[in-house]
Amino acid sequence: MNSPTILRTSTADLYDAHVLKNYARAPLTLVRGRGALVWDDQGKQYLDFTSGIAVNALGHCHPHWVAAIQRQAAELIHVSNLFRNPNQAELARRLIGYAGPGRVFFCNSGAEANEALIKLARLHGVAKSGGEEGKCFKIICAKNAFHGRTYGGMSATPQEKIQKGFRPLVPGFEFGELNNLQSFADLVDDQTAAIFLETIQGESGINPCTTEFLRGVRELCNKHNLLLLLDEVQCGIGRTGKFYSFEYAGVQPDAIGMAKGLGGGFPIGAMWARENAAELFHPGNHGTTFGGTPLACAAALAVLDVIERERLLEKVTFNSVGWRAALKQFVKDFPKQVVAVRGQGYLVGVQLAGEVAPVQAALREAGLLVPTAGGNVIRLLPPLTATPDELAQSVEILRKVLTAKA
Ligand SMILES: Cc1ncc(COP(=O)(O)O)c(C=O)c1O
Repeated sequence: MNSPTILRTSTADLYDAHVLKNYARAPLTLVRGRGALVWDDQGKQYLDFTSGIAVNALGHCHPHWVAAIQRQAAELIHVSNLFRNPNQAELARRLIGYAGPGRVFFCNSGAEANEALIKLARLHGVAKSGGEEGKCFKIICAKNAFHGRTYGGMSATPQEKIQKGFRPLVPGFEFGELNNLQSFADLVDDQTAAIFLETIQGESGINPCTTEFLRGVRELCNKHNLLLLLDEVQCGIGRTGKFYSFEYAGVQPDAIGMAKGLGGGFPIGAMWARENAAELFHPGNHGTTFGGTPLACAAALAVLDVIERERLLEKVTFNSVGWRAALKQFVKDFPKQVVAVRGQGYLVGVQLAGEVAPVQAALREAGLLVPTAGGNVIRLLPPLTATPDELAQSVEILRKVLTAKA
């Protein structure tokens, strides 16, 4: 029953009245997108360097991705994991091409991919203890990490703003200092099953693991028979110019959590695990109704097609060099406002001396949409398809806003 009153009610009013108030949303209603551009309901155009928080890897409505989804929607959208579907099989094969020999579990989000990693760690601990539960279950994570909002993910996320109100948490998580190998080594004991890290911390302000640290953690894991679990939910799927950002360090994890860019905007998550770790799962001990549907996998296969055909890894690597150099120049040009510029490829954080919210709002006014991150950071997350011209536009808008605020 669409009454005329309901039709006249604005989206903002409907949000105010009916949507859970768990986000501080911008006063903006987005209705259409194309590539790196989006338009609001007033017809205003924006350069979208939020990319759905690192989700829209191909930008908005890439024609190959749209066609793949349309084709698959008319053929078969969902079947249970009680049966096989060809797209899931093919996507697993393609992901193993990037991650190495192993097996893939499909789910729907980053938090769910990380839950699978946490459960894998528990299974590994049980195997280490000769089949006994509760003896080896500890997972060492990093301070300032963000691994998602489920109970496992949140328990691995040592941030007051995330955990407050939800305690008691899942037991067994301990926290070392990022890039301080000794602080991790000090926490390892007979109860430790795994070390779990974001290769580049995203939500807490673009803080990368150093190569030396990641290599040291790999050795620590080898020495104590611990699994190295890497959360590539935000930094993976080409965002840094490599398919997985740990490739820069030349380390091989035992399992990887991924999501966000994988579906290019269609919800899908995945866990890859190397063969003998993957064997810890057996029929009945893990699952999810919607994981790896024909439609979700068609979207992800289309993302991989475009990454490969349009050589997006090479383009991100090449285009990002000049872009990040131009952003780094802000540290010199606006020393009172810009403290540091960090990141790799198209995952960049501009750390400000003062509050980020007014700068984010001014950027929005000037036509650039960006998210913030912890520690006063403006995050810039262009789609992997962003052109040098679009990257240059973002620099220009940021310069204009910083100049006005100087
Ligand atoms: C590194 C990392 N892990 C996990 C998550 C959780 O992913 P999702 O929101 O899809 O559950 C996020 C989301 O921002 C993330 O950045």
